[in-house]
Amino acid sequence: MSHTVVATAFGGPEVLSVIDTDVPEPGPGEVVVDFRAIGVNPIDYKLYSGAFGTDESQLPKRLGSEGAGVVSAVGPDAVGPAGPISVGDEVIAFRGVGTYASRAVQPASSIVPKPAQLDWEQAGGLLLTAATAYDALEVLGVGAGDTVLIHGAAGGVGLLAVQLARLRGATVIGTGREVNHDYLRSIGAEPTTYGDGLADRVRGLAPGGITAAFDTVGTDEAVDVSLELVADRSHIVTTAAFERAQAEGFPSIGGSNPDSTERRDAARLELVGLAGEGKLVNAVAKTFPLADVATAHSELQQPHDIGKFILVP
Ligand SMILES: NC(=O)c1ccc[n+]([C@@H]2O[C@H](COP(=O)([O-])OP(=O)(O)OC[C@H]3O[C@@H](n4cnc5c(N)ncnc54)[C@H](OP(=O)(O)O)[C@@H]3O)[C@@H](O)[C@H]2O)c1
Repeated sequence: MSHTVVATAFGGPEVLSVIDTDVPEPGPGEVVVDFRAIGVNPIDYKLYSGAFGTDESQLPKRLGSEGAGVVSAVGPDAVGPAGPISVGDEVIAFRGVGTYASRAVQPASSIVPKPAQLDWEQAGGLLLTAATAYDALEVLGVGAGDTVLIHGAAGGVGLLAVQLARLRGATVIGTGREVNHDYLRSIGAEPTTYGDGLADRVRGLAPGGITAAFDTVGTDEAVDVSLELVADRSHIVTTAAFERAQAEGFPSIGGSNPDSTERRDAARLELVGLAGEGKLVNAVAKTFPLADVATAHSELQQPHDIGKFILVP
């Protein structure tokens, strides 16, 4: 038996319920994970908000694509990216399936070992944001000598992008609310606030110019400032402004882009290794009992403390 979150309709967080579900035996290439911590991401509420359509045949809809826990059953040929998986292994699932649950069947291909040094909360919310940030920096080709502007640097994706860009030797300017500036400085970014005058503030911080821009926010301001400051449009990427990207001719990542999926999956072991060594820090803003999932989704859509939201079954 598992406590499992489902969206019973399309709408706001009030459509979420926690129900009891049976957990089937894992089939070939599958494992069962008893989740200890589950990462909450904006995509999770977008999937039932209607942002991606309202196909009633998808209801009730299970949610969640990442989490960390203990393997409690394995099917035949349960081999993950790091090798065979055994009962009792402490693992991270990404890209998992229906991870908003106390226990759920997962494809073995989504399972990587959890470093002992990472606690459950940090591990459960690490990989969606870290892999997205890694994907963006790969598309931008960020390296030493670059000065990167990251819009939404204090968000889940932004925090990982700042750290990964610094590890590549780049200079980083990150936008965020003033309350987040000290934290952004502590991970190596030069912070500035978003809003009127952003382009001039960034110019002031980067007299040598901006060589790449990563938009994690999707506002017209983030796109317009990126276009104003970065001459080469192939050096701008967004995770959110898909229509602007298409109209203006710069890349977007994610969604169903197979190149993004491949890059992100290939990066998982490296990213988990960096986190285990303490070189990537996944700040946790707040934990919620699984039963409070609707509150977590409401709060994530408001200004919130820096770091990830985590569900604890
Ligand atoms: N395409 C993909 O594959 C992919 C993958 C992951 C995420 N995403 C998308 O990327 C976006 C960010 O995800 P996330 O997990 O980082 O979300 P998040 O943790 O909620 O962070 C969003 C951040 O945006 C900042 N922000 C809010 N309004 C802003 C504005 N007007 N200008 C600049 N920054 C603003 C906030 O920072 P302050 O608190 O400092 O205001 C907030 O921390 C979401 O739309 C998500 O769906 C896409």
